[in-house]
Amino acid sequence: MSSVEEVEAALAEERAALAGAGDERALEEWRTRVLGRSGRLTAILRSLGERPPELRRELGRAANQAKAALERDLAERQRELAERELAALSAGSLDVTLPGRPRPRGGLHPITQTLREILAVFSEMGFASVEGPEVELDRYNFDRLRIPEDHPARDMWDTFWFDEEPSGAGRLLLRTHTSPMQIRYMERHEPPIRIVVPGRCYRYEATDATHEWMMQQVEVLAVDEGISMADLKGTLWECARRLFGSGRQVLLRNSYFPFVEPGVELAVDCFACDGTDPACTVCRGSRWLEIMGAGMVHPEILEASGYDSGRYTGFAAGMGVERIAMLRYGVEDIRHFYQNDLRFLSQF
Ligand code: PHE
Repeated sequence: MSSVEEVEAALAEERAALAGAGDERALEEWRTRVLGRSGRLTAILRSLGERPPELRRELGRAANQAKAALERDLAERQRELAERELAALSAGSLDVTLPGRPRPRGGLHPITQTLREILAVFSEMGFASVEGPEVELDRYNFDRLRIPEDHPARDMWDTFWFDEEPSGAGRLLLRTHTSPMQIRYMERHEPPIRIVVPGRCYRYEATDATHEWMMQQVEVLAVDEGISMADLKGTLWECARRLFGSGRQVLLRNSYFPFVEPGVELAVDCFACDGTDPACTVCRGSRWLEIMGAGMVHPEILEASGYDSGRYTGFAAGMGVERIAMLRYGVEDIRHFYQNDLRFLSQF
C-alpha cells in the first residue's frame, strides 16, 4: 500500500535521477517516465480512489506537492542544461550570440532593367528579338550600310579594329552600332520583318557625361508592303510614351544616316535643366537629348537584300539604352553606369 513515506521516497529518488539526466533527450525520458500520463506520480494520484478514505486526503496532498516540486525541478534543470550548452558553444570559435549576417539582396543593373523594358514594349507591338555579333566585319558595319571606305560618315563611327583579318572576308572591328544586323537579317529572311536587336556597341571616343566607349543599343527593323513614315512615327511615339510617360516632350527632327532616306532623330527634352540652362552638361545647353536615330530603309539596301523596293518598304531605328536609362532615372552622367559603385547601383 502506498503511503506518504512512499511518495517521499519516490520524490527523493526521482530528484536524484533528474540530476543525473545530462541532455535534452534524457530529460524528456525522465519527464515521460515520472510526470507523463502513465508516469509514476500520475499513477499514485489516479489510484487515490481505491485508498481508504482516511489515507486519501493526506496522500493526495503529498503526491500533488511532490508533482509540483518535480515540475519545478525539471524546469530548473532544463534551464541549467541550456545555459551549459550555450557556454560550451561560445567557448569555441563560434559565437552563437552574434546576430546573423544579413544577406545582401541582388538586383538587376539599371541598364538591364531599361533594356528589358524596351524589349517588352516592342514585343507587345509584335517585334521578335534577335542578336548579332559584337565582333563584326567592316562590310556589315559600314559598306553594306552605304558607308564606303572614304565616306566622311565613317568619322561618326570611329571604332576599335582588329589586326588579324580572316582570309578574304575583310577587316574585323568592334561594331559601332547594331545596324549591321539589319543587313544580316535581311540576307536570310523574307518580308514581313519585325525585329529588335539588342546588343553592345563600341566607339573609339573620349568619354564625357553623355558618351561612353561602350554602350548598348536596340535596333528596330520593320519591312513589309505598305510601311510608311507614319508607321515609323507611330511606333517611336508609342515607344517614347511607354518609356517616359506622357510628361516629357518628344522631338522628331530630320537627320542623316547613309542607310535611311529620309533620316530622322528622336530627342526627348532634357530632364536635368528642362531646357533652361545654357551651361547644362547633360544637354550641353541644347534642350534636347537625342535618344535614337531612325528613318525609312534606303531602297538600295532593300534591293541589295534581294527585295523589290517597288513592293516593299521599311523603317529602321537605333536607340541608345544608356541615354534612355539616364532620362528615365534622372542620371546626369553616363559613366556612373559602368563604375560598379554599389552606392549608385543599389538605388535602382
Ligand atoms: N545606327 C545608328 C547609330 O548608331 C542609328 C540608326 C539606326 C539610324 C537605324 C537610323 C536607322 O547612330
